[in-house]
Order: sequence, then C-alpha cells, then structure tokens
Amino acid sequence: MKNIGKLRKLMSEKSLSALVVVPGPNMSYLTGSKFHLSERPVVLILEQERATFILPELESSKVSNLKTELITYNDETGPDSAFIEFSNKSRFTEVGIESRTIRHLELDLLQKTEISKGFVDAIDIFATLRMSKSNQEKKMMMNAVDIAQKSLESITDKIRPGVTEKEFASELVIQLLKNGSESELPFSPIVASGVNAANPHHFPVDKEFEKGDLIIIDWGANHEGYFSDITRTFAIGNDIDARLLKAYKAVKDANSSARKLAKSGVEAGALDKAAREVIDKAGFGEYFTHRTGHGLGLEIHEEPYIKPNNEFVLENGMTFTIEPGIYIPDLGGIRIEDDIYLDDEEAISLTSLPRELIFL
Ligand code: CO
Ligand code: CO
Repeated sequence: MKNIGKLRKLMSEKSLSALVVVPGPNMSYLTGSKFHLSERPVVLILEQERATFILPELESSKVSNLKTELITYNDETGPDSAFIEFSNKSRFTEVGIESRTIRHLELDLLQKTEISKGFVDAIDIFATLRMSKSNQEKKMMMNAVDIAQKSLESITDKIRPGVTEKEFASELVIQLLKNGSESELPFSPIVASGVNAANPHHFPVDKEFEKGDLIIIDWGANHEGYFSDITRTFAIGNDIDARLLKAYKAVKDANSSARKLAKSGVEAGALDKAAREVIDKAGFGEYFTHRTGHGLGLEIHEEPYIKPNNEFVLENGMTFTIEPGIYIPDLGGIRIEDDIYLDDEEAISLTSLPRELIFL
C-alpha cells in the first residue's frame, strides 16, 4: 500500500491504534483500486501490524494483490457477520475516521459490533499524507492540465454570439473525453456569460453568448484520478463595459501577485492576502467573495486552503489553485484560475493558457 509506513507513523504520533477508511480518494490513494460508496459497505481497517478489508465477496478480487487480510460477505449473509468476525479478533476504544466521507451505515456497523465505541476525525492525517505530491503524481496532474487546455483551445472558435452556455459546456465535455480525460470529470464545466458570470458557481443555462459579454469558463480533466481545475475569462466583441475591463486587470494582477509570492515556507494566508490587497486597491474588494484557492489532487478541493488568515506553511510538492475573482451583481464577473506546483522552493504554474483578456 502506498505510503503506508508514513501513514502508520502519523497514526502513532496521534496515538491512534486504528484507522477506518471507506471508498473515496484516501482508499484509492492507498490501494490503487476504486470502490463506490454503495449500499454494500466496504471498509479498510488499518492497524500498526495489519490491514483488514471488510468487503462484499464480489469485490474481493480487486484487492487480492494487496497484503491485507480479507473478511468477505455476500448478499445472503449481509455485512453484519463480517464485522462481527473482525470484532471477535480486535476491538478499539477509539478509531480514526474520515468525517467527510464515512456514513451512518459504516459507523453503525462499527459501533453495534463493538469494533469501536468512539470515533475521532482523522482527516488531518490523510491531508498530511497526501498534500505533498510525488513526481509521479505531479506528472499525472500535468497530464490532467494538458488535456484540459488542449480541449478548450480546440473550441475557442465556438465562443461567439448565438452559442448558448449549455451548448458550449457540452462541446467542452466532448473535447475533454476525446482528448483523454477519464469519463468521471472532476466537475461539470462552469460556463457563465454576461450577468450570469456575477455568480461564481453558475450552472450553464440556455442563455446565448452576446456581444459585450465576459464569459467565465471553469473546467478540468481527470487523468488516472488526478484532477486539473482551470478558469479563463473571455470577451465577446470589443465593446466591453469599462468597469469590467478595470476589474479584469485587477483580477489578473491579483493572480500574478499571489503566484509570485508562492513558495515553500510561505503561509497559505499570505497568498490570499496578496491577491486580496490588489483587488481592494482597485476598489473591487467587496466583490471578491471567495478564498483565493484550494489544494488540488485526487480531490477537487483538498488541503491546503489558500484562505484569509490561514497560517499553514506551504511546502515543496504541494499543488493548489490560485483563482481570484470579481463578481459584480447585474453586470458580470471575472475569474482567472491557475494550478500551481511548488518545486525546489519556487512556484511552477502547471497551467499555461494566456491570462490576457482575449477578445473574440
Ligand atoms: Co475551478
Ligand atoms: Co478551483
């Protein structure tokens, strides 16, 4: 299992005798195999000396190559018997869980079979484990960025009056899949034009692109489970509201200011501050309504968070977005999002699409 030694060390530092992992990014990271959170529970119980999978018989071939013990169940017996079998061997007073992923289904089974009485959130352990990416992981992310960039570049001619947000979004999805993204995209592309761009999380609708619109496109690809997450803003025609043009420049400068500051040893909150200061100074502070960025990898949002006052110190190998934005109600919006990798104490932007406003 990947990095299992490091994980066990983190467990003992936190005096945790066991960790329970359910299907999701942490299980994929450790085992390299993918499970769905379905009505048939799958749990991996990690201890210092052993690792045990409790899972449906029909899924057991997925993990037979790992050095784990297997306790299986079928639809006739149901999972209870398998959890009881484990509980006859090991019981804990407290286990670490993934509070954002585990469900009542698994917690209830663990509790009623007395595998554990108590539960403690172990999200920070997994964050520490996964935050710094290996060279191999960095390559996966670079591929995810390349696929996403190529996909958008192949259809920029479709950013023109008369094309709807939904039409463009569907075209982008087709290109992402054609260019090699896994079919499970990190998220459905955001295409927000004109006044719709004033909503940072707008979902594409049937509105047509019109002259004078700024269009926010936020999209990403998935390469072997690793994600990219990019945003660019385009202009339709040359007649763009002067306030939006001023806001665009502020966002571009804020993005650049945060990227320039990014390196190992700097607090995440300092990057947020750098971006926010530029936007404040330009007079748009109240319209920058979200954090500057988030960690990126097997999850679209993971640690470290580039948010106000975050004292977390960035380290080599970390990957995160820098994505300042300005959203002016009833007028429009702008966001420029890059994917950053900290390498040898400097920040490398994995994303390379132009940040200048492109008038189409
Ligand atoms: Co994004
Ligand atoms: Co993002």
